[in-house]
Amino acid sequence: MTTSCQRVVRWGGSAVLCALLLWTWAAPLGAMEPPAADAQALWNYITQEPNFRKWGTWQEFQKLRRSTSPFGFYVKIYINDVALQAKGTTLPPGSILVREGFGMNSNTYAPSDQIIAYTVMYKVKGFNPKGNDWFWVHYSGTGKVMQSGVVDQCLKCHNTARDNDFVLDHRLR
Ligand code: HEC
Repeated sequence: MTTSCQRVVRWGGSAVLCALLLWTWAAPLGAMEPPAADAQALWNYITQEPNFRKWGTWQEFQKLRRSTSPFGFYVKIYINDVALQAKGTTLPPGSILVREGFGMNSNTYAPSDQIIAYTVMYKVKGFNPKGNDWFWVHYSGTGKVMQSGVVDQCLKCHNTARDNDFVLDHRLR
């Protein structure tokens, strides 16, 4: 940014104006850049504003649901716009599905406020063509990376939905 503004100054432009212009246009662009297959970068990306809790979701996931997976007794699932707007039985690169897993109150069996885990599917072009390029991540309830990549544990269950791009509880069409 400094170097390109120095060039503008050499051409007789104003350094302040140049920096201002670059900032207003580069800042929102930078905020939108999707990360590579890197669990920490992905966490930073999905928690930046507007964070994943403000995303939409598919109809099946509109309410807090009881879950049978080890990553939460109750879950909320958030789907980014790339996936929401997609058509067909395979989601496009850039799709992100976030599952937020809550604990259970042992007396009432009601969901607790405690978040046990976040499990995320992120499609990165070329990451793993055999597995439809899904990058799998398990974060702790505080966002610490626990497992990432082609995670066998995730695939044990999600492999049963190979014909639906590994998505279990929403039919792609
Ligand atoms: C024991 C089976 C099981 C394992 C292991 C598992 N899942 Fe799932 N997953 C499910 C089920 C069942 C659903 C449907 C929603 C629900 O009930 O939680 C689901 C839903 C999801 C969804 C929402 C989209 C969909 O497929 O419906 C994401 C994202 C997800 N899982 C990510 C992961 C990741 C990442 C891992 C590994 C860290 C993982 N899952 C491991 C069973 C599993």
